[in-house]
Amino acid sequence: MTSSNTQRGLTVWFTGLSGAGKTTLSQALERRLAAGGYPVESLDGDVVRQRLSKGLGFSKADRDENIRRIGFVAELLTRHGVVVLVSAISPYREIRDEVRRQIGRFVEVYVNAPLEICEQRDQKGLYKRARAGELRGFTGIDDPYEPPLNPEVECHTDLETVERSAAKVWRVVQATLGR
Ligand code: ADX
Repeated sequence: MTSSNTQRGLTVWFTGLSGAGKTTLSQALERRLAAGGYPVESLDGDVVRQRLSKGLGFSKADRDENIRRIGFVAELLTRHGVVVLVSAISPYREIRDEVRRQIGRFVEVYVNAPLEICEQRDQKGLYKRARAGELRGFTGIDDPYEPPLNPEVECHTDLETVERSAAKVWRVVQATLGR
């Protein structure tokens, strides 16, 4: 591990619909970073919501609060040289831009899979419940998702392999870390 690897942190922020592949992609990145000797931490939406954001729901206010909390922790870690991998739907552009400004060294990755594909995958069975009206305010069904306008990386996870998407992110991460 060279000192330049550890001196400066970075936050890689994966945003996209539920089931788009944020966690899978983030895990692929984590393996590459760990193998390269980088200090790395993951803040995954599902995990964060069981701990740091326990008790928050899915209203706009609660989602924004969730993102602010994640952003706060990501900024602290980034400042101390960690490469932070955040995966959260983070559906609102304004709050994503707010945490970007706060953190500074920030790579936004739009994990873009069409809703139909996410719905077909339906890993957690939540789309089905949302369509049945059992779950209200589900992102992409009856709650908004605002795609990033200028993401540093866009991954089409319905068309690319995980390795191909991870390689795209990896290139930008390395270029940013080297700066
Ligand atoms: S965010 O909108 O606040 O960024 P986050 O990524 O933390 O969301 O959590 C999303 C996860 O919560 C989804 O993958 C899904 O498992 C679960 N979930 C439960 N209810 C909802 C909902 N109404 N909308 C989206 N995801 C939901």
